[in-house]
Amino acid sequence: MAERCAILDCGGQYTKVIDRKVRELGVKSEIFPIGVSADKLKDFGGIILSGGPASVWNDGAPKYDHGIFELGVPMLGICYGMQLINEHFGGKVIPHFKTEYGCVGVNVDTDCLLYDGLTAEQTVLMSHGDAVEVLATGFVKTGDTEGVCASIYSEDRRIAAVQFHPEVELTENGLIMLENFLRKICNFKEVYALEDRIDSSIRSIKERVKDKKVVVLVSGGVDSAVSAALLLRALPNENVFAIHIDHGLMRKNESDFICENLKKQGLTNLLRLNVEDKFFNTRVEISDGVFAGPLSEETRPEIKRQIIGRIFIDVTREAAEKLGIDFDDAFLAQGTLRPDLIESGNPDVSAYANKIKTHHNDVDIIRKARDAGRVIETNWDWHKDEVRQVARMLGLDEEIAARQPFPGPGLGVRIICLDEPSIPDDSQTEKFNKFKADRFNGVIAPIKSVGVQGDNRSYSSLCVLWGEGCEADFAKTAKLSTDIPNALGFINRCAYLVSGNKPEGEIKAHPLHICHETAELLREADHCVTSNIMNSGISQCFAVLLPMGVKGKYSVAMRAVVTSDFMTARSALPGRDFTVEALKKAVAEIKAISPDIDMVFYDTTGKPPATVEWE
Ligand code: XMP
Repeated sequence: MAERCAILDCGGQYTKVIDRKVRELGVKSEIFPIGVSADKLKDFGGIILSGGPASVWNDGAPKYDHGIFELGVPMLGICYGMQLINEHFGGKVIPHFKTEYGCVGVNVDTDCLLYDGLTAEQTVLMSHGDAVEVLATGFVKTGDTEGVCASIYSEDRRIAAVQFHPEVELTENGLIMLENFLRKICNFKEVYALEDRIDSSIRSIKERVKDKKVVVLVSGGVDSAVSAALLLRALPNENVFAIHIDHGLMRKNESDFICENLKKQGLTNLLRLNVEDKFFNTRVEISDGVFAGPLSEETRPEIKRQIIGRIFIDVTREAAEKLGIDFDDAFLAQGTLRPDLIESGNPDVSAYANKIKTHHNDVDIIRKARDAGRVIETNWDWHKDEVRQVARMLGLDEEIAARQPFPGPGLGVRIICLDEPSIPDDSQTEKFNKFKADRFNGVIAPIKSVGVQGDNRSYSSLCVLWGEGCEADFAKTAKLSTDIPNALGFINRCAYLVSGNKPEGEIKAHPLHICHETAELLREADHCVTSNIMNSGISQCFAVLLPMGVKGKYSVAMRAVVTSDFMTARSALPGRDFTVEALKKAVAEIKAISPDIDMVFYDTTGKPPATVEWE
């Protein structure tokens, strides 16, 4: 039997990333829920326990079969997985001893096989609130971050565990650590080759669709372009119908570019719909008996996402029917990626994962269609960089293969809507001022945004920083953007003022909603950001319209990140990833759009603690 490594999913955001990295290291892997019976794991040569949103000391902690620790199989615990191992073997984990969300330096014991070949100082990604206080019996501490236990090891049991995440790219030598676990602790010898993804995908489309019709939603990004291209290879052209929906929340000139490019790919049945009014002004059923909308009146990020996701399907159904397709008898294809499902808290992908945000392609009505076997998702097992590889293998234009992602809800999740300001309470202000002291200039802004911390969703305050405008030391600011949320749990994102050296008065919140004018304002600001800042080293960049200002009603935040799988990301830094001149030019152009735009900020926060999008 082939050598295999089992991955037990405790609900972590990165479980699929672990699976993928293990396979890329040439070891066959399989994911199981953490509750799997030990019996099923006895033929595996290694077991990895993932991270997860729960706390081991909590009643809600996922149950596991204690027999897994009697199998004598080498193990690696990651984050929650380490805490579970530590508790199981008699150690103690305590809550909120020190929260760490972001990249930190750790000191590791290089005699431990996990760190073989590495130096003692390592940069790793931490994302946790709980920490090991008392070490488990038979384990030694093999890593430390300023007093917090970062890793443990039992040579006798061949069990290693790390508080950080070796599977993500922000842990610089994480791949070496995983390889050491697989090859030196588990002693895996075989090298497993990845199956040909394109052939297997085409085969599966043919088997499922047969001679039925498929309606594919094409947003213009690489994900849906790959789905459409695979469908065209698998099925007769006349059975593939592509629909591009312009919901009024697209980027400048985006829909024209997309439709031209899709025609070039050989799509003959392409329908473009301009349905801004429907998206902005309709009330819809977002789940059984629950109605919401219209979008133009909604301010809650999750509800906005659900409204947009639902209207996508309503519009698609109407369009299909006009094309003479029986929608209930056809397949719906979309470019869903694995992270979309993980972040949406899809129970089929992970029993314990926390919902970070509902992606437009995993709303209630899609889940029902998926349960009925009517949804084709060619990319559901892939991350963004894998989809790009497939795009290139399929011969798609480099402009599409390398295209920066644009989320389905488009500018809808970049207009930060507001009716009432989020004013910090006195104790938060007091804690903030104490921490700030003379370290930096900043205030808690009257708005919130979404983040991901310790595998959990957060919806917390924004911290605004200032001092030297575009000439700031952005590396220092990025470090502050990790330190501030770590010290102050009610903040998950920091943005630096780049349109001046300080706000010219108190920053006040103003009402903001989605409408044609605000979408237009953001579209122009977004164009200023992308046309000046985007380059091949940046993974995604865009503008966000903020409901606050001193003199004008609104402000704009610029965001640019570097990542390949989008599960973690670092903020792209002016002066390092793009020029300060480009930053200055973007700021000047944004300020010139409208007197309603007051300040311009640059978001310097990583993921975690923030997410890439603000909502
Ligand atoms: P976050 O904000 O979760 O984003 O860090 C990770 C990546 O996913 C994109 N994103 C979406 N893509 N539908 C999509 O197709 C969505 O609803 C959605 N929300 C976020 C985001 O732009 C980033 O590239």
